[in-house]
Amino acid sequence: MKTRITELFGIQHPIIQGGMHYVGFAELAAAVSNAGGLGIITGLTQRTPELLANEIRRCREMTDKPFGVNLTFLPIVTSPDYPGYIRAIVEGGVKAVETAGNNPQKWLPSLHEAGIKVIHKCTSVRHSLKAEAIGCDAVSVDGFECGGHPGEDDVPNFILLPRAAETLKIPFVASGGMADGRSLVAALALGAEGMNMGTRFIATKEAPVHDNVKQAIVAASELDTRLVMRGLRNTERVMNNAAVERLIQKERSLGAALKFEDIIEEVAGVYPKIMKEGTMDAGAWSCGMVAGLIHDVPTVKELIDRIMAEAHAIISRRLARFDTA
Ligand SMILES: Cc1cc2nc3c(=O)[nH]c(=O)nc-3n(C[C@H](O)[C@H](O)[C@H](O)COP(=O)(O)O)c2cc1C
Repeated sequence: MKTRITELFGIQHPIIQGGMHYVGFAELAAAVSNAGGLGIITGLTQRTPELLANEIRRCREMTDKPFGVNLTFLPIVTSPDYPGYIRAIVEGGVKAVETAGNNPQKWLPSLHEAGIKVIHKCTSVRHSLKAEAIGCDAVSVDGFECGGHPGEDDVPNFILLPRAAETLKIPFVASGGMADGRSLVAALALGAEGMNMGTRFIATKEAPVHDNVKQAIVAASELDTRLVMRGLRNTERVMNNAAVERLIQKERSLGAALKFEDIIEEVAGVYPKIMKEGTMDAGAWSCGMVAGLIHDVPTVKELIDRIMAEAHAIISRRLARFDTA
């Protein structure tokens, strides 16, 4: 399947694996790239630029296909060493970067000079247009369904994607709620050039996380995520668990007085405990509503092959049946 996204990134299938904290290690990125998609290493999960350089080397040993690095620009005062991370990406010969969070404008010249294509993750048409205006090569349009940070506008993909298609000139992929061949065909129908998946890729054999995480996703329905930190304008969609219920209770009782420090126990530094040790109630972890569509733990290649076969079957059989003109 050829789209502007497969052309832009030199990949076989229009499927991207979004950056995921403590999930997007070299093993997963390489598996996705080897299966014909675009795998992404999560930059900030590596505590220093040197560690990221090492992770890029490890990924290159596992695949000769293109892969990318996610750089999330956090709204915090003590900023990570972004120039160092950019250097590691450029010197590592990576050709794709997924940016997210704050405006990436400041970093675009050094990335573009190195021939790197930049796809910025946006949760609104407004931010997508800004990304286009500052020179990003593509956008990942992340609807309200998504795992992680859906922004504050709450527009689901059935509206957000066609609005992006009406407005954008650069290509975009649909992100949030994507799981299978049906998602891919729907995304293409709504104007996207491919799709980005987060939660679905966690429930794969190669995802280097504890099996408890994969089983929690398989067991969850579309009703099992919660929105937290709305009061801090840092809304996150997470899997419900005991820590999340405690967090929501604090949000209810403190109301507008809630500060980050009040919920630090539930959100800070919890990812290694959950993803590595499988202590599922250790805190809040990002998860999409799409968990309701995830029923198994295939290999990444089985998943991607299945998605592409299903997408082709929907287009050439089911949809063609309706085309009687
Ligand atoms: C466990 C987890 C961690 C994530 N961490 C990040 C991150 O560090 N940076 C980022 O840009 N997006 C992050 N995301 C968002 C994903 O890249 C992707 O946009 C999102 O999962 C898409 O929605 P879906 O889960 O419905 O597929 C994370 C998502 C999950 C599920």
